[in-house]
Amino acid sequence: MAHGGRKRVPLVVGNWKMFKTSAEGARFVRELGEELGDVDDREVMVAPAFTGLYEAAKAAEGTALSVAAQDVFWEWEGPYTGEVSATMLAALGVKAAIIGHSERRRYFGETDEAVAKKVWASLEQGLLPIMCVGETEEEREAGLTEEVLARQVPAGLASVQAQDERPMVIAYEPVWAIGTGKTATPEVARDVIRQVRCQVEKTLGAEAAQGVRILYGGSVGPDNIDRLMAQPGIDGVLVGGASLQLGSFVRIARYEKA
Ligand code: 13P
Repeated sequence: MAHGGRKRVPLVVGNWKMFKTSAEGARFVRELGEELGDVDDREVMVAPAFTGLYEAAKAAEGTALSVAAQDVFWEWEGPYTGEVSATMLAALGVKAAIIGHSERRRYFGETDEAVAKKVWASLEQGLLPIMCVGETEEEREAGLTEEVLARQVPAGLASVQAQDERPMVIAYEPVWAIGTGKTATPEVARDVIRQVRCQVEKTLGAEAAQGVRILYGGSVGPDNIDRLMAQPGIDGVLVGGASLQLGSFVRIARYEKA
């Protein structure tokens, strides 16, 4: 993952979670494309549910927007009922995959080992992995944030070689800030993201650490986006609830560093 010399273009991703039908998502993408037609200094993505990927990817054609999946399986094909492979996603025109979201870790038993395999499979199929890491409230209160990141980051990157040039993204999403309205302050987000970058450096070297884009996620909205994006080292955001309404997501995507 030597992203040496690669500029870290800011990235705004809307994670729709289990919201929006396929038709609703496609309409949103068309409207978003119109609203953001003139924006060319940042990347904007939406991540619909699997059922909405095809229509969303079609609606994104010819716009600067792209489409991400919310999960991916690591085998290309086989008897894995209910799963969707990176091959299948890439064939639909999907550009990225969110991997290891805390909701998947918590409700679906996703482990660091599974995350590593999904990161590898995505890279192999030309998808941009967006690997999520972050501590729970109990872990934060127990002072374990750094320890959690020191486990999750190297474990999730276990199958990536230091010299691998393919881009990848890490999202720092403190579990206590997801959907709670409690946001990490921009300063806390900046400091923890610095620790995440340190872990990437320990795992893959300095060049990779400078090239990887690291996003913040957790109660991002129109009110805090400008201050978050003003922090050095925060390369973008992964937005849940506030990505579901066109107006608020447009405002977030049009952030101006404050
Ligand atoms: P909220 O923005 O709703 O807190 O969700 C964050 C998140 O989980 C994005 O992946």
